[in-house]
Amino acid sequence: MATDEFENVVAVRKLRSSGLTSSSAPKLFKAGLKVHQKLSPHPNIIRFINHGKADKTPYMVLQYVQGADLKAVLSRGLELVDNVADVLIQMADGLNHLHDRGWIHLDYKPENIMISLNGHVSLLDFDTAQSFPRKPKKYPKVSGTPAYMAPEQLMGKETDHRADIYSWGATAYELLTKLRPFGGRTPDESRRNQLNEKYSFKPAHLHNPQVPVGLSQLIHQCLAYQPKDRFPNMTIMNAKLHTLLGVQYQPIIQSPTAVAS
Ligand SMILES: Nc1ncnc2c1ncn2[C@@H]1O[C@H](COP(=O)(O)OP(=O)(O)O)[C@@H](O)[C@H]1O
Ligand SMILES: [Mg+2]
Repeated sequence: MATDEFENVVAVRKLRSSGLTSSSAPKLFKAGLKVHQKLSPHPNIIRFINHGKADKTPYMVLQYVQGADLKAVLSRGLELVDNVADVLIQMADGLNHLHDRGWIHLDYKPENIMISLNGHVSLLDFDTAQSFPRKPKKYPKVSGTPAYMAPEQLMGKETDHRADIYSWGATAYELLTKLRPFGGRTPDESRRNQLNEKYSFKPAHLHNPQVPVGLSQLIHQCLAYQPKDRFPNMTIMNAKLHTLLGVQYQPIIQSPTAVAS
C-alpha cells in the first residue's frame, strides 16, 4: 500500500526479492505486467496504474482494494449471503472480459479475487496468463492450487480457456457450500477424486438448499471432467448465469480498434 502524487491510496506489487523466489518469478512478473498493459480496463479487473523499478526491483502500481481476497473470506468464515449472486456475476464478468480480450488466466482461484467492503469484485494476478489459444495446448507447469485446477491442467495435458471455466466453477461451488467439490480428507485424496473421471461429487444445492437447482447445474457443468462437457466459452456460460440469476446480461461489444489490434 502506498499513496500516489494526489494522495490516493494505491497498491504496489513488487517482484519478491527473497532468496526463496523461484527463478521463473521475474519472467512471470514481466508476463503479468504485459497482460496488465495490454488489457483494456474492466470494472471487475484490478485497475493497472503504472509500473517502474526501485533499486532494480520491478514493481507495478495497481488500484488498492480495501477489503479481502475470497480465500480470506472463506477461511475466516465470513458470509456473503446477501450478495453471493452478485459476486458470482462479477466474477464471471471479469473472467469473460479477460477471455474476450484474448487471454486465459490459468490460476483462477479465491486468492486471486478481491472483494471490496461494498461488495465490488476484482480479478487479479495475471502472472500465469497466456494468450487465448486457437486450440488446446500444453502450457508450462504453474505452481497453482490444485483444488481449483482442471484435470487436464493438473496433468500437464493440452489446456485452453475451458480450464478457467472449471476454476470459476470450483470457486463458485466453495463460495456457496463452504466445501470443495472433490472432498477428500487429505489433499492427495481430493486430487485423486478430481482426477477420477468416474468420481461423482455432490451438487451444490444438496449441501446448501438455498442454492437454486439451475445454478447448481451450471456449476456442475463448469466442473465437468472433460472440457467438451463444460460450456464452450465464458460468453455462453455468463449469459446463462445472468438468466438464471435474473440479471440482465450486457454482452461485451468490441470497439473497431480493439478488433483490429
Ligand atoms: N490491488 C490490491 N489491493 C488489495 N490487496 C491486494 C491487491 N492485489 C493483491 N492483493 C492481496 O495480495 C495477495 C497477493 O497478490 P497477488 O497479486 O495475487 O500476488 P502473488 O499471488 O503473486 O503473491 C492477494 O491474494 C490479495 O490478498
Ligand atoms: Mg496471487
